[in-house]
Amino acid sequence: MNGPDQYGVVGHPVAHSLSPFIHSMFARQTGQSMSYRLFDFAPEAFQERVAAFFAEGGHGLNITLPYKIAALERADELTSRAQHAGAVNTLAMRSDGTILGDNTDGVGLTQDLCVNQRVVVTRRRVLVIGAGGAARGVLAPLLALEPEVLVITNRTADRAKALAAAFAQLGNVQGVGFRNIADGFYDIVINATSASLTGEIPDVPVAVIGPETFCYDMAYGKGDTAFVRWCVELGCRAAVSGWGMLVEQAAESFRLWRGVRPLTRPVLSALSAS
Ligand code: ATR
Repeated sequence: MNGPDQYGVVGHPVAHSLSPFIHSMFARQTGQSMSYRLFDFAPEAFQERVAAFFAEGGHGLNITLPYKIAALERADELTSRAQHAGAVNTLAMRSDGTILGDNTDGVGLTQDLCVNQRVVVTRRRVLVIGAGGAARGVLAPLLALEPEVLVITNRTADRAKALAAAFAQLGNVQGVGFRNIADGFYDIVINATSASLTGEIPDVPVAVIGPETFCYDMAYGKGDTAFVRWCVELGCRAAVSGWGMLVEQAAESFRLWRGVRPLTRPVLSALSAS
């Protein structure tokens, strides 16, 4: 294939994706010759279309909803973080013609948390709300930072327990229902539920949030999410939505593809300005 190296994001729907904007800013900033497009593939065509993209010389894809699990199958090899996440958000064509499947979501979160927000995770008490794919994707990178304890809480308690059991080898991780969260507030509370998408707030006890708690909503949208507003009303130290995670996971994908890590702050500033 002649011309710039081909990249893109696959989803369904995907028209709303900010990834083309983010990656084109990264490409300009680092002087990389690449194009980045949106691909809306129907479920029955997903595997075939992704295979065709790479067969025709495509270099890399981001994978978004609802295909992060389906994309596991397209990879010849998975990074350990993709294996832990049980999902792929980045596919990369390697020089030997094989496709690597990676997941940069979790490291996107820890990068935003630790570098941009300057929050310390090590030896802190962390609460993750939610036990779906979004929660699963961030557990390994969070546990790698060695929190004192990482409690997973979920509306459906059994899912939290199962997820905690699956990650027990990686650190001190516990799974509980909303009503069985131990008393006292947490240093860090991360909302990994999809409740924000419908403007809902997970029904966790307010006591988990204290004046020193840093609150993070992995969801993002125009203005503050309902969870961020709720945490601020409860008097937390600070609360942010997931814009930083979005940009940081993109930067990690970009690094995997191009071997250079772009600066994320200019992109975050551009997004907040618009
Ligand atoms: P995702 O891939 O976004 O994580 P998912 O696997 O469907 O999607 O999981 C959604 C998560 O959000 C689950 O933890 C779900 O809780 P349940 O397992 O009890 O369904 C959680 N969730 C969604 N809406 C919620 C709400 N209104 N209150 C609390 N939790 C909610």
